[in-house]
Amino acid sequence: DHKIIPSAPLIPINDPSVLFTTAGMQPLVPYLLGEKHPEGNKLTDYQKCLRTNDIDEVGDNRHLTYFEMLGNWSLGAYFKEEAIKMSFEFLTKVLNIPVEKLSVTCFAGNADAPKDEEAAKYWEEAGIPKERIYFLKENWWIAGEEGPCGPDTEMFYDTGKPKCSEGCNPDCDCGKYVEIWNNVFMKYFKHKDGTLTELKQHNVDTGLGLERMTMLLRGKQTPFETELFAPVMDKLEELQKVDNINSRRIVAEHLRASMMIIADGGRPSNIDRGYILRRLIRRMIRHMNKLQINLDELSTLIDINVDNLKEMYPDLAKNKEIIKSVILEEKEKFVKTLVNGEREFQKEINKLKDTKKLSGKVVFKLYDTYGFPPEVTKELAKESGYEIDMKQFEELFKAHQEKSRAGSE
Ligand code: ALA
Repeated sequence: DHKIIPSAPLIPINDPSVLFTTAGMQPLVPYLLGEKHPEGNKLTDYQKCLRTNDIDEVGDNRHLTYFEMLGNWSLGAYFKEEAIKMSFEFLTKVLNIPVEKLSVTCFAGNADAPKDEEAAKYWEEAGIPKERIYFLKENWWIAGEEGPCGPDTEMFYDTGKPKCSEGCNPDCDCGKYVEIWNNVFMKYFKHKDGTLTELKQHNVDTGLGLERMTMLLRGKQTPFETELFAPVMDKLEELQKVDNINSRRIVAEHLRASMMIIADGGRPSNIDRGYILRRLIRRMIRHMNKLQINLDELSTLIDINVDNLKEMYPDLAKNKEIIKSVILEEKEKFVKTLVNGEREFQKEINKLKDTKKLSGKVVFKLYDTYGFPPEVTKELAKESGYEIDMKQFEELFKAHQEKSRAGSE
């Protein structure tokens, strides 16, 4: 009996505390805290999300910045028993995942809240054998430092790989277990001073990653092989002159993320969310260069993504021309900087004798004189087997900012 609600924008409305929506619960915070939702107390949706802490990791076989979180919410309507029953039913009867493939984890307890024997009991009643129910102290969920929170129970898919050690369990990241869904029992509110109080309303907040689930259901090793990314990935393979799977993934992922941000009103700039968008576009361009793909092909790649995603996101089709002009304009701005920056970077590398470390001074010079972003220098250095002294760069950067501030005052 859940009401389907639309995804909120990726760029939060009236919420300066976060740059982007990072979880399905974020737009629902007022309702988790007791405000009445116009659609009732049982809701479900697919929410556009962006998590930016791992931008540099994108390119491997699993990290994404943009993803969709499917969720169901109880705003004080049902709690652990019903949530667990419904999750079990959805996984085993709707998605047809064999029970043998599932393991779950529950909260192990701490000074704030007890061990979640209740959740474990409901899992056992649903049909998960005791030996596949694990208790972990990490099973607690909150968005940031303050807000609604509580113990969670996480569901894992067993890929069938052998255990990496005797103690291998869903907490291990050897790849045997893949987390597929999280149910948070939001019974508490965490205050700024770290204390917890109980909420009037006991809520359930859940999150299931669409890309990961698609990957598992399709029997693929990475989300990039699924239909969510395949059309762009195939085109990149066709266009590339140099083969590089990581670069193809970076281009496909960052392009999709950038398009979604722009469709929701984001524009590149030098601060906050605008800078995230700028970084995504720049990194994408650099990797298109690595693949030796003509940057004019960006327009075709955008068309392919729009065709692939427009059914879910009509806004992409509606904003196609704006998306193109924002990305192409940013490309124009960056190309010159990139050419000069890469040339200067190479010169600096050639000067190094007995060290594999580029000083913060050089990183600063590339930034200050050639406008070359430090994160690009860092990535270039890494690719060529060099380190950079980021700490020294940051000191110089701060000193420089202070000097300009004093100057303008
Ligand atoms: N809010 C929970 C999460 O992001 C469901 O994992």
